[in-house]
Amino acid sequence: MQSTKNYNKQIITKKFRLIKKERAKMTKKISSTCLLLLFALAFANAELKFVFQLYRHGARGPINDWFNGAEQKDIYNELTATGERQHYNLGSKMREEYKGFLPNKYNHSEIYVRSTDVNRTLMSAASHLQGMFPENTGDFLPSNLTDYYTLPPFAGAKNYLPNQNTALPRNIQVVPIHAQPKNGDLVLQPDSNCQYYDDIRLAFYAQKKETIDFINQQFNNTYQQYSLLANKTFSNFDDMEDVDDTLQCNRYNAKWVPNISQELKENATYLTSLAWNFWYNQPELLRALNTPFLSQLMAYLDPVVQGKNINGLKWVMFSAHDTNVQLISAALNLTSIDCLLHKRFPNKFKPSKPYYNCEYAPEFASSLIFELQQAEVKIDDQINKGDFYIRLRRDGKYMNICERNSTNCSMKEFTQRVNWFVYDFNAVCNTPPSKPVLNTQIIAQSHNPLDHQTNFFEIGFYQQSIVIILGGFAFYRSNLHKKSLEFKQFQGCEV
Ligand SMILES: *[C@@H]1O[C@H](CO)[C@@H](O)[C@H](O)[C@H]1NC(C)=O
Ligand SMILES: *[C@@H]1O[C@H](CO)[C@@H](O)[C@H](O)[C@H]1NC(C)=O
Ligand SMILES: *[C@@H]1O[C@H](CO)[C@@H](O)[C@H](O)[C@H]1NC(C)=O
Ligand SMILES: *[C@@H]1O[C@H](CO)[C@@H](O)[C@H](O)[C@H]1NC(C)=O
Ligand SMILES: *[C@@H]1O[C@H](CO)[C@@H](O)[C@H](O)[C@H]1NC(C)=O
Ligand SMILES: *[C@@H]1O[C@H](CO)[C@@H](O)[C@H](O)[C@H]1NC(C)=O
Repeated sequence: MQSTKNYNKQIITKKFRLIKKERAKMTKKISSTCLLLLFALAFANAELKFVFQLYRHGARGPINDWFNGAEQKDIYNELTATGERQHYNLGSKMREEYKGFLPNKYNHSEIYVRSTDVNRTLMSAASHLQGMFPENTGDFLPSNLTDYYTLPPFAGAKNYLPNQNTALPRNIQVVPIHAQPKNGDLVLQPDSNCQYYDDIRLAFYAQKKETIDFINQQFNNTYQQYSLLANKTFSNFDDMEDVDDTLQCNRYNAKWVPNISQELKENATYLTSLAWNFWYNQPELLRALNTPFLSQLMAYLDPVVQGKNINGLKWVMFSAHDTNVQLISAALNLTSIDCLLHKRFPNKFKPSKPYYNCEYAPEFASSLIFELQQAEVKIDDQINKGDFYIRLRRDGKYMNICERNSTNCSMKEFTQRVNWFVYDFNAVCNTPPSKPVLNTQIIAQSHNPLDHQTNFFEIGFYQQSIVIILGGFAFYRSNLHKKSLEFKQFQGCEV
């Protein structure tokens, strides 16, 4: 791919610069390697300035009782050995691909790691970092240090690594991983901090009832087969997703999975992806839930662009969940309900706009990488020499961004799009919808989506949600043009 090639050229440019500095030493012999680098330089067109990485934890145990989940309570929610290895491998891959940009050895000024305060994401980050900064990149004791000083003040303390000058066994490196309690972590756990999330989601389902009915009808066969597996009857994609999740855990953890056809598996993946999009894609909800994160992302990128990145921070890593990968993917048009529907049913769902990407739900250890680049030559109509621009990778593939058939987007345009997208988190998530709309007349008028045959969710909750959301929508609309969100609002969330 062209993109990967470009990146390699950038690495080579960096290497070349280092070499240039040391030219004095090197004048003796201009090696063939150097000639090769000189040749590559002729094609280099950008320099990588900053990387922001966010990933989902690796494989875990089940999180529900469906299928054989109930028999696996011992690993419920927890990262498994497979998950550790996945992240070790991903971290190692980062070290390999970003060689020359990522420091060879951990540097506290350049690397910042944050995780949700959840066992499996904390462990994923630790595993990832073992790959990124492996054995033999750790710290050494001062050569003339007296043994006495390696001892903690503890009765009977001793030195367990006598005559070894590495700080830790096999010269491993430990790296700080920051986390905030779930309650209040708007950047990484926005849905858990969104009081009205369920109401908004359910009202959105009601609004999309016709489409959902169509889906359920098309995939009735799939539901039936999964119902047999789960030994529990259901006919909606949310329950399907739960069963599929446990099967997926089992595959990754080498536990028994029934033999299912490729077609059935593909249908399950597809339905799971639809489910994820339906959960978060009510438009104001999607904007609100992404706002703390996007504000945080810009707070990292802006200083680099403005030349104010004084500490030399160059790599920020967030260890999080499928929710995060999904939310950001939907916010940046990497996926949507519409593109997924069009993909499977092109005749019924005609595109209202071109879909430049259409990703499925995030897998274990799925990742997003934002690269902030600076152009060394004119790249295209939007990006001139010296301009900063963004590239975005999902699971290693460069995505089309900013609604063009292009994997480059100028920082200026990216910022404009993000600024438009960000919204008032509290107005959507934590403000009780206004009361006046609460009357039976409106319930009656909005009755159409409340077909009582629906067995999608409990009806009582449903009706309540409709009323709340009607009130909510009036409220959102009145706020829509205010753009009341201050960018700084969420900066208190993070250093
Ligand atoms: C992870 O750690 C918590 C303590 O934070 C512990 O109580 C629990 O058993 C572990 N699992 C989960 C899912 O929190
Ligand atoms: C250890 O070596 C360093 C560098 O040679 C020197 O500056 C320092 O004083 C020495 N420390 C001790 C305790 O001898
Ligand atoms: C897969 O999905 C299609 C609808 O796109 C459906 O017609 C077919 O029966 C499904 N197959 C299975 C095995 O679930
Ligand atoms: C760590 O990174 C900072 C910022 O880039 C740099 O100034 C410093 O020299 C680095 N430290 C080491 C030990 O390489
Ligand atoms: C996503 O697509 C919509 C509709 O085409 C567009 O208005 C919006 O700016 C796009 N968002 C981004 C971040 O490109
Ligand atoms: C996008 O560009 C690629 C080449 O860069 C081309 O092959 C592809 O057909 C284009 N797709 C669209 C939708 O324009």
